[in-house]
Amino acid sequence: MNKAWWKESVVYQIYPRSFADSNGDGIGDLNGITSKLDYLQKLGVDVIWLSPVYRSPNADNGYDISDYEAIMKEFGTMEDYDRMLKAAHEHGIRVVMDLVVNHTSDEHKWFIESRSSRTNPKRDYYIWRDPVDGHEPNNWGSNFSGSAWKLDEKTGQYYLHLFAEKQPDLNWSNPAVRREVFDMMTRWCEKGIDGFRMDVISLISKPEGLPDAAVMGGGLYGDPNICANGPHVHEYLQEMRKTVLSRFDLMTVGECAGVTLEEAKKYANAAGTELNMVFQFEHVGLDGGDGIKWSTKKMPLVPLKENLSKWQNGLDGVAWNSLYFCNHDQPRIVSRLGNDSDQYRERSAKAIATVLHMMQGTPYVYQGEELGMTNYPWKSVDEFNDLESINGYYELTEKAGMKPEELFPMIAHKSRDNARTPMQWDDSDNAGFTTGKPWLAVNPNYRKINAKEQVARPDSVFNYYRQLISLRHSSELIVYGHYELLLPDDPDLFVYRRYLDDKELLCAANLSEHARTFDIPERFRSGRVLIQNMPEHDVRDGQIAPYEAYVLLKSE
Ligand code: GLC
Ligand code: CA
Repeated sequence: MNKAWWKESVVYQIYPRSFADSNGDGIGDLNGITSKLDYLQKLGVDVIWLSPVYRSPNADNGYDISDYEAIMKEFGTMEDYDRMLKAAHEHGIRVVMDLVVNHTSDEHKWFIESRSSRTNPKRDYYIWRDPVDGHEPNNWGSNFSGSAWKLDEKTGQYYLHLFAEKQPDLNWSNPAVRREVFDMMTRWCEKGIDGFRMDVISLISKPEGLPDAAVMGGGLYGDPNICANGPHVHEYLQEMRKTVLSRFDLMTVGECAGVTLEEAKKYANAAGTELNMVFQFEHVGLDGGDGIKWSTKKMPLVPLKENLSKWQNGLDGVAWNSLYFCNHDQPRIVSRLGNDSDQYRERSAKAIATVLHMMQGTPYVYQGEELGMTNYPWKSVDEFNDLESINGYYELTEKAGMKPEELFPMIAHKSRDNARTPMQWDDSDNAGFTTGKPWLAVNPNYRKINAKEQVARPDSVFNYYRQLISLRHSSELIVYGHYELLLPDDPDLFVYRRYLDDKELLCAANLSEHARTFDIPERFRSGRVLIQNMPEHDVRDGQIAPYEAYVLLKSE
């Protein structure tokens, strides 16, 4: 087994806009992050990944970058950034930056030049095509609704945008684009950052000839995921590795829409020629609707176990897993897989964390997950900020004929805004996130669910996460051990074992509302309990309560 610090780390994702506001303008900022480093150190995380903090007009909250080497005005200055980076390092926390280079903002200087004329030297930095029979060059849809092509009147050509119109795709087949991106990355590395999370990096190489794609949900457009794992993506990443990544001690994780197990073995190969690990999407797609993301379904346990186990076993020894349920694009896991009622919220949040954090891979905690924060009780589409939710609602109701009263609850359940409501720090106004008016509504449950209360209470979700994180830091078995799923067909229980040399552990969780029995194998019965979410129970009695979870070490 090849050891590495990034395999032994736990990563905490910060969505800066919603984390902590230091100056009362209602928007989280860099000084806010700096002020919360003690909290993160207490939690015990090794790395923070910051969602984009670069200059941006915020069509997609910073994922549309107009200057990769300036800080978003609302978030502060480069001096604030440098201070935050230094302070994080002094707290023993590394900093991973979001790298959004599949596309830029249409307000980036490259695009402004590119669109200025057909002969501009930067024309070929983006993907321009002539109309075909007066229409779009192909049938691709944007991930945020509508066509993926936008006609630019001035030069009479269309440009490609797999996301919003204000996010034109860069042309990675142009070596000058790759050079610009690699130089920019190098300058950030020289500043002392510790890695990159690469936004939709699986989409950078478009298929030869840009052929039409199979039509997706709602039946209006071709699926832009036809660009996933394109013909030159591995070549480009190998070039990136040689040119930039190999020269620094970094952690790299690729956000890989459409990645399969076989592709992941290439992106995250153990020889280290590309990235350290990828985010795969299969498990978070299991509760999707019919051809669309939107649904009110609960995440089904048997397929979830099957999928995560496939990734555990498939990458063991040949690549490396990243372990996540939550991020800024996913609804809150306790509302999705767990049970966010008063009775079970804390217990189920802990149980879900247990099954994730005991797996092989690098775990990611998304801000507020460590408190068991829940989805927001949305009442109307006007409350959303996220363009995916808003555009999806109007496209599907107005063009695809879905009934608003059927669609709304589905969007409310899956909207990315569920993850983006402000962090709940305490029970004062606006959850202590801001003294001003928060840019997105604070979840009304903050008086009950907040960091201040949980840090102080030994049996809180926060303190359970602390325990899980510290267990990983003290156990090679948890970080590097092999994995085997037990009871694959059980609809309520998620049980697996991990083993390494002569060591072995058993992780068991009841992810249902039914009391169950589970016969613990003999060799664990006299072993030590590493962690349990119902410490008042003797786990060895064979009873496993709703949302109970525990981890047992095999006796010596
Ligand atoms: C990724 C980001 C998401 C963003 C999209 C376009 O999926 O995680 O938030 O909207 O890429 O950059
Ligand atoms: Ca602010």
